[in-house]
Amino acid sequence: MKKILTIVGARPQFIKAAAISHVVRDKYAGKIAEDILHTGQHYDAAMSARFFDELDIPRPRYNLGVGSGSHGVQTAAMLEGVEAVLLAERYDGVLVYGDTNSTLAGALAAAKLHVPVYHVEAGLRSYNRAMPEELNRLLTDHASTLLFAPTATAVHNLEKEGFEKERVVAAGDVMLDNVMHYRPEAVRRKKWPLDGRPMILATVHRDFNTDDPKRLRAIVEALERVGERLDATVVFPVHPRTRGHMAGMGGDATRLRCVEPLSYLETLSALDSCRLVMTDSGGLQKEAFFCGRPCVVLRPETEWAEIVDCGAARLADADVDAVVCAAEAMWDAAVPRPTQFGDGHAAERILDAICC
Ligand code: UD1
Repeated sequence: MKKILTIVGARPQFIKAAAISHVVRDKYAGKIAEDILHTGQHYDAAMSARFFDELDIPRPRYNLGVGSGSHGVQTAAMLEGVEAVLLAERYDGVLVYGDTNSTLAGALAAAKLHVPVYHVEAGLRSYNRAMPEELNRLLTDHASTLLFAPTATAVHNLEKEGFEKERVVAAGDVMLDNVMHYRPEAVRRKKWPLDGRPMILATVHRDFNTDDPKRLRAIVEALERVGERLDATVVFPVHPRTRGHMAGMGGDATRLRCVEPLSYLETLSALDSCRLVMTDSGGLQKEAFFCGRPCVVLRPETEWAEIVDCGAARLADADVDAVVCAAEAMWDAAVPRPTQFGDGHAAERILDAICC
């Protein structure tokens, strides 16, 4: 029996970890025992507890309660907390997900204690080192024992950087596992659209978009303008980080409808109802693609280049005209079937590799 510690902290990690935890419970009972450690990076009920309830993720055995802070303060507190857990209890491996500060802290604490690190969603690169996530990805990959790449591009990126073949597993994407599993239920529970107009689903939370008032103002103005031009309602679930910076923006908007952050099932049901997605989130870009919705990526580049390459998404940096033009171009775009992200059984492939 292998004893694994799953380390999560931020919203997208709860979603990814759910795919693994369900397969551990259903198919690997007796082979893998999993404990969950929550760093506490996300702590609002709408950003954390709701995902555990809705996705039926086992309660965390540990919660470090780290909360918000500068990168150094937050990552240091997590490192210290994860190390204490790994010193107190023997684990055969640590599972980390994606590219947040919780990912890096978990990987680094474990690697320094010679505990094998398993990185789910390895090999992603935006080649923009100004993004904290890019540094987290690079450093986590290098600290990892096994690297689970979601796409052929990710495998290729790791090959280019000289990772040994034996460490890299082309697993597919656990986010696709989840969409395939939860989508029918989400569509059944559907509560959208809000009015008779076609719907656009928009989210913005990247620090370079939210923390620069000029960029955020341009994006908010562009979303309202897109709603007017396409005669659509823009549903905008607002991340707490974004809300803090939005004071005074979008006040007289008529097409932009700000709402609280959505749960996972609410997101999938909104995706089913909408005609276009506009986002700077990596996860939502992919979920849009998996659900057959065209996407405008509110960033100058993306680590999910295959979605842009196949015509399902278009990049638009924070400029009103560029965003409006991209939205108009994508409004009627046909989205090809996703073939680049595996077959919906990534979690099984990951657990097979960990077990053997
Ligand atoms: C983090 C990840 C990002 C991921 C995102 C998903 C890093 C560097 N970034 O960004 O990669 O895409 O999570 O959402 O790890 N806040 C609250 N309540 C919460 C959580 C956050 O109010 O429950 C507010 C706080 O003001 C906080 C700010 O949001 O300072 C930013 O939170 P933080 O966890 O630092 O980063 P995210 O922007 O959420």
